[in-house]
Amino acid sequence: MSTGRPLGIDVGGSGIKGAPVDLDAGRFAQERFKIETPEVSTPEAVCDVIAEIVDRFDDVHDGSPIGVTIPGVVQHGVVKTAANIHRSWIDCEIEKLLEDRLQHDVVVVNDADAAGVGELYYGAAQGQDGLVIMTTLGTGIGTAVINRGVLVPNSELGHLEIDGVDAETVTASSAKTREGLSYEEWAPRLQRYYRHLEDLMWPDLLVVGGGISRKADKFLPLLDLRTPIIPAVLENSAGIIGAAVLATRTQQERGRHLD
Ligand code: BGC
Repeated sequence: MSTGRPLGIDVGGSGIKGAPVDLDAGRFAQERFKIETPEVSTPEAVCDVIAEIVDRFDDVHDGSPIGVTIPGVVQHGVVKTAANIHRSWIDCEIEKLLEDRLQHDVVVVNDADAAGVGELYYGAAQGQDGLVIMTTLGTGIGTAVINRGVLVPNSELGHLEIDGVDAETVTASSAKTREGLSYEEWAPRLQRYYRHLEDLMWPDLLVVGGGISRKADKFLPLLDLRTPIIPAVLENSAGIIGAAVLATRTQQERGRHLD
């Protein structure tokens, strides 16, 4: 059983952010603390930053579970891909590394999966009982597939190949910025991507997250899809909150298995 507040930590390209989470209220229990991502963001360098963030919060006690998000596939605590992070993450046993270092129960999850869980519990997809797909538009495209409240981890649907091209390289919001596209110029790419996604997956709801979702009114009305598509509401706290939910649930499940 958990004896302390869960802590969520989001490892991103520019910053590593963490906050203890109040799971009853679905929000941060203390103000978020952010440290810049080390220039050479190897697992060791990132672990040092994570340890600093954990030390920062007096709300985090011995039994506090810690959830950490990574922008890559994480299978059973091991990082398997590194599309937008340092290559040395591949095959890193990050969960074990962090548990040994921090002496806490740690769960490491894909960033979009964590954000999807955050939105499902407390945000745009709250109460949705069908198939929800969360997409995060940022440097890449992250996806979370959640069916009837159960997460199917590591879906990686941002890398769907469309016209022989990895979709995220031309459709993520980083492509919009890089190529200086207006919303009207970017929208056809989103249209193609989301239409392909709905044709393959038949979700009941699409949720759009990532920083640019704050401007959703500029591009969602330009899309013509059969699936309802709505902006995320937790903004950049979704990953931290979702990671804290998953860490708490896993800690409780592991506790049950020991009974
Ligand atoms: C990665 C995903 C990640 C997404 C968003 C993609 O390039 O493959 O694992 O969720 O970026 O960070």
